[in-house]
This record gives sequence, C-alpha cells and structure tokens, in this order.
Amino acid sequence: MLLKSSFISLILATSALSTSISTKFAKRSEKPLNRYSSEANILQFSNFGYEGFYFPISEVEATDSETCRCVKDLGNPVSFEGPIAPLSEEVSVHFRGPLTLERFAWYVSDTYTYGDLTGNWTRQAFYDASSGTADNITFLGNVGEDNACLGKALDFVDSSGLSLSKNATVLGTSEIPSDGEFAIFSGVKCDGSDDCGAYRSGAQAYHGFPGAIKMFLFEFSAPTDTSDDSNSTNFNMPAIWLLNAQIPRTSQYPTNANCSAWASGAGEFDIFEVMNTTEPNHFYSTIHSFQGTSDLSTGLPNFGFLERTPNATMRGGVVFGGDGTATVFLSNGTSFNPMLFDSDVNNWFINLRADGDVSERSLLSVTQISPAASSTSASKSSKGGAAGLMDLNPSMGWLSAMASIILGALYI
Ligand SMILES: *[C@@H]1O[C@H](CO)[C@@H](O)[C@H](O)[C@H]1NC(C)=O
Ligand SMILES: *[C@@H]1O[C@H](CO)[C@@H](O)[C@H](O)[C@H]1NC(C)=O
Ligand SMILES: *[C@@H]1O[C@H](CO)[C@@H](O)[C@H](O)[C@H]1NC(C)=O
Ligand SMILES: *[C@@H]1O[C@H](CO)[C@@H](O)[C@H](O)[C@H]1NC(C)=O
Ligand SMILES: *[C@@H]1O[C@H](CO)[C@@H](O)[C@H](O)[C@H]1NC(C)=O
Ligand SMILES: *[C@@H]1O[C@H](CO)[C@@H](O)[C@H](O)[C@H]1NC(C)=O
Ligand SMILES: *[C@@H]1O[C@H](CO)[C@@H](O)[C@H](O)[C@H]1NC(C)=O
Ligand SMILES: *[C@@H]1O[C@H](CO)[C@@H](O)[C@H](O)[C@H]1NC(C)=O
Repeated sequence: MLLKSSFISLILATSALSTSISTKFAKRSEKPLNRYSSEANILQFSNFGYEGFYFPISEVEATDSETCRCVKDLGNPVSFEGPIAPLSEEVSVHFRGPLTLERFAWYVSDTYTYGDLTGNWTRQAFYDASSGTADNITFLGNVGEDNACLGKALDFVDSSGLSLSKNATVLGTSEIPSDGEFAIFSGVKCDGSDDCGAYRSGAQAYHGFPGAIKMFLFEFSAPTDTSDDSNSTNFNMPAIWLLNAQIPRTSQYPTNANCSAWASGAGEFDIFEVMNTTEPNHFYSTIHSFQGTSDLSTGLPNFGFLERTPNATMRGGVVFGGDGTATVFLSNGTSFNPMLFDSDVNNWFINLRADGDVSERSLLSVTQISPAASSTSASKSSKGGAAGLMDLNPSMGWLSAMASIILGALYI
C-alpha cells in the first residue's frame, strides 16, 4: 500500500517534470520528448548522482545447499556523493540474451563533461571476439556452487558464456540465448574482504570498473529469438546493464535481502534493456537508485527508447561525465581505439542529434545523511536481483519521498 501510493505520486510528478523538460529543450532548439515510448537517438540523464548511503553486506555464507547466512551491516553504512554516485563505485557489466558480444571497452578520462572538446579517453579494458583479445577482462557468471538462498556462485564461464570453467576463459562468439546471462569484471582479482568487501567463499571475486568519469562501449548483435519457447523467462528480452560490483560478488539473485546491497541502494544502471515482449525492439535505460524515488524496482526510467536492430550489428554505449550526465547511444560511428578524443565522442553525438531526438531526464537533487531503522517491502522483480526484496531507503519515509519528488518537479 505504501509503495502503491508513492508510485502514483511518482507518475503524477513525472508528468509535471516532462513539461519542464520540453521548455528546457525548446531553449536549446532540440525536440522535446515528453511521453513514454518515444523513439530517440540519444537517451540522457542529467544531474545524476546524489549524496546518500547504502548498507554493505559484511558476511555471506552458504551454510548448506539450502540455507545461507548473511549480515547486512546496519552499523556501517557506506556513504557516497558526487557525479553518478553510487555508480561511481566499481561496477560490473552484465549481459542477457539473445545477444552476441563482439567488442567491449572501458575507458576513463580526467575531465569529460558532455559537449567537451578538449580532453581524451584512455582504454583500460578491452574485449574483441574476432581476435580472441581480452585485456583486463574476466568473464564470470552465476554458474558455480548452487544454494537455494544465494543462487549459484559467481564463477568462471567457458567460451559459451554459460557453463562453469575451471579457469579464466575468453568468451567465444556463440550467441547467448534468451534469459542466458554472463558478466564482465576487470582482470584484477579481489584480495580478501578488506579489498572488495565480503564475498561468497568458494566463488570467484574480481574488481569491477571504478570512476565517476567513465565510458563503456559495446559492439553486439541481439537477433530476434525465433524459437517456439515463447513462455520462457525473459523471452527475446536482451539487456546490457551495470551493477555495483559488490552485488554479484555476494549474490545477484538472493531470496534473502540481507545478502545483497542492491536493496539498500548500492546501484544499478540499465544501459540497453528490452522491458517486455510487447516492445521487443525498444531498448530502455533506467537508473535504480534512491535519487528521487522510494520505488527502487521501477527506478528512474528515461522516457525514450533506442531502436534495437535485430538483423544488424549495433555499436554504442554509455558515457558518464563529471557534470553528472549519462549519455546512452547507438551509433555505427563508434570506434574502439586505445585512445579516443572528446571530439570523437562529440562527433558521434552531433551526428545522432542531426537526425533524431535526445530524450533527457533530469534527476532531482537529493541528500540523505542520517541512517535510521530500515524496513522491508515486497515489490516486483528486477535484474539487480533481490527479487521482491527491496528495502525502503531508511531516511526516506513515503511522505518525505513524495514531498521531495513533487517539490523537485515544481522547482525544475
Ligand atoms: C590526454 O589528456 C591528458 C590530460 O587528461 C593530457 O595530459 C594528455 O597530454 C592528453 N593526450 C593527448 C594525446 O592529447
Ligand atoms: C584494470 O582494471 C582495474 C580496475 O579494476 C584498473 O584499476 C587497472 O588500472 C586496469 N589495468 C590496466 C592495465 O589498465
Ligand atoms: C582451463 O580449463 C579448461 C576446462 O575447463 C581446460 O580445457 C583448459 O586446458 C584449462 N586451461 C588452463 C590454462 O589450465
Ligand atoms: C504458453 O503458455 C500458454 C498458457 O499457459 C499455453 O497455452 C501455451 O501452449 C504455451 N506455449 C508453449 C509454446 O509452451
Ligand atoms: C536480516 O537481518 C536482520 C538483522 O540485521 C534480521 O532482523 C532479519 O531477520 C534478517 N532478514 C532475513 C530475511 O534473514
Ligand atoms: C513495456 O515496457 C514499456 C517501457 O517500460 C512500457 O511503457 C509499456 O507499458 C510496457 N508494455 C506492457 C504491455 O507492459
Ligand atoms: C532489418 O530489418 C528491417 C525491418 O525489420 C529493415 O528495414 C532493414 O533494412 C533490415 N536491415 C538489414 C541490414 O537487413
Ligand atoms: C551498422 O553497421 C552494420 C554493419 O556493421 C550494418 O549491418 C547496419 O545496418 C548499420 N546500421 C545502421 C543504422 O546504419
């Protein structure tokens, strides 16, 4: 009941918000996008990142094949602030089929802001399927020891991306089917819980990709699933998303919310996500954090979508700027050079803006500082895991959540 009410207020507030977005774009001579399900060439979030906290998991253990023991550390909340927080922490990169990954790269820059022309980007991790290159990349999946409470442990996948391997293996070129998942971490192994926070023993634990200013690029195909298995979970719903890397290291899909920091807001960013089979060729982008909502499962969706071309290879990605922008795009102009200039990135965007719309969502400015008693509430499932186990962010009771959303909408 609490969630339902705040969800309604969110929808109402959203319509107020979109009106003001139109005004903003009119000034910039860009076309407004003020409703859900509008096709765009660029999906952009602005004012992304807030001052907040989440509760880390300090212990995670499979006690036998059925049960587990996890401790959510209420006494030591992790505080974060600044551009794109909490996604400025280390993130892992997750893929769901139908999908074939051809290239992946992670870049960092010291200075980038949207539209900047003066800086450059350095590639720090790179995968190229055709040459079998994997620099600073580890392919993992939920393929290890099984446990009813934690799910399967994170472990090395073989070249299919789907089965357990004894050692780190470079992903091959075969297609990941509907609902199949794998993840990319860096090549740097975790050195105990002081280094990476608690992680499941017997699992493989690697560092993710840190930084407030970072860019992830992809070349991939997402062909239509033509099997007759249309009742299967996530049928023909490809996705690429980021999780705070602590989440999969403890448990991506636990049945106990104390086993994942997702539920208290460690953060998820959906880059390209097909949401349902009614719109199988629409890629949506969503932030799952508490920056202006108490409904973590619905999160903060962008209004627009990018077109999935099931019969053609796609290139694109997400660029996070020091100005709190997250710019999601698909462009055949995307290149994967070891160094890229801001002007290269800007040229992709100029070309996309010339023949399509920018769908912008500006987030509210939010500050949450004083942890109080937490409460748990049921909700629908999410790729972040912890299905049905979302916490209400403790400092954000439903009344204050509603007030800040509505005030924010009026203010903008
Ligand atoms: C790239 O940017 C850095 C500063 O972030 C600068 O020191 C370096 O000279 C630049 N490299 C080139 C090739 O422009
Ligand atoms: C590999 O990735 C890690 C992040 O986990 C980063 O700190 C490191 O600098 C990267 N290594 C190279 C050689 O770029
Ligand atoms: C890695 O494991 C696979 C089987 O999972 C095996 O075929 C391969 O030889 C192993 N490679 C190394 C370097 O140990
Ligand atoms: C899918 O589920 C529906 C309803 O449960 C059923 O009628 C249909 O036969 C199923 N289709 C397949 C291919 O299993
Ligand atoms: C989670 O931990 C709290 C104590 O921190 C405990 O009260 C609660 O029962 C735990 N929840 C589950 C599902 O184990
Ligand atoms: C499919 O997802 C889109 C985007 O979230 C949403 O607007 C639409 O209502 C959904 N359609 C159905 C039938 O659920
Ligand atoms: C892909 O399919 C669309 C229609 O679904 C068509 O317009 C387009 O030309 C096709 N592209 C290629 C490369 O076959
Ligand atoms: C992008 O390039 C691929 C080939 O690499 C091609 O099949 C596809 O049609 C191109 N897409 C667009 C939108 O031009």
